[in-house]
Amino acid sequence: MSEWNQGSEWDQTSVKPDRVPRSIDITRPHPARMYDYYLGGKDNFAADRAAADAALAAAPDMAVTARANRAFLGRAVRYVTAEAGIRQILDIGTGIPTAGNTHQVAHEVDPSIRVVYVDNDPMVLVHANALMADGSRGTTSVIQADLRDPAEILALPQVRDAIDFDEPVALLLVAILHFIKDAENPGEIVSTLREALPKGSHLVLSHCTLDFSDPETGDALREIYSRATAPLVPRTHAEILAYFDGFDLVSPGLVHLPSWRPAVPPTANHLSRVHFYAGVAQLS
Ligand SMILES: C[S@@+](CC[C@H](N)C(=O)[O-])C[C@H]1O[C@@H](n2cnc3c(N)ncnc32)[C@H](O)[C@@H]1O
Repeated sequence: MSEWNQGSEWDQTSVKPDRVPRSIDITRPHPARMYDYYLGGKDNFAADRAAADAALAAAPDMAVTARANRAFLGRAVRYVTAEAGIRQILDIGTGIPTAGNTHQVAHEVDPSIRVVYVDNDPMVLVHANALMADGSRGTTSVIQADLRDPAEILALPQVRDAIDFDEPVALLLVAILHFIKDAENPGEIVSTLREALPKGSHLVLSHCTLDFSDPETGDALREIYSRATAPLVPRTHAEILAYFDGFDLVSPGLVHLPSWRPAVPPTANHLSRVHFYAGVAQLS
């Protein structure tokens, strides 16, 4: 039997069916593909769409939140490259490529910036590799690995080859830590990564919160994601702030995501519909 899926569902994706590994379980909702669906992408399956539709029914703001998060990613990558001068990026929790991917934003600033993407979803790898065919290979690579084993990520030859740990690095943990359970020690994961970074490095982080929602919405979302390949663990401002231990937050600090250096000030309506905090910090 071939190691690749041949299912007709793949025909609606941007990846050819013969490039889809059988190891991808399309029957269980996956957060990366649910997120792709919120963003209007087509790289998702019936199980992902059903779970995402249920999440949207419980929390209609999910799509607005996802788009706002993507916009933050762009602003933060522009900040760390154009303003902080960083020339190498480790982006853990890449997501299925969509508009404004990290390497594309960074390469608008300087095409020589090196980007290493890490994700544990094989589907992300398939799509990201297809995207690399755009000529960004050489500066940009994508690796399948798990954030829950940060020491393994740091030791990977592909990471050591691409990233010079004597020079400042931008570490991106954008919309990923809320998929790590408390029992999996997300704080220790961030510390392990921080200890590998030299001074001048930056941490870019966004995280789901229920600080702005009612408890029923939170319960419904937790229930929906409990059936996905990763649970959703929203956290409070204080809990998310703890991830920045050892770093100095740059202005405006850890804030309601739309308020992180917006091009135009967010409206009250937009703010009320976004359920993430975001911040960027420097290692000094
Ligand atoms: C919501 S998407 C965020 C994508 C992108 N960072 C953004 O903000 O637009 C979360 C990504 O994290 C990945 N992910 C979740 N848990 C992970 C883990 N333990 N290790 C590596 N990647 C993980 C998912 O596969 C998914 O691609």
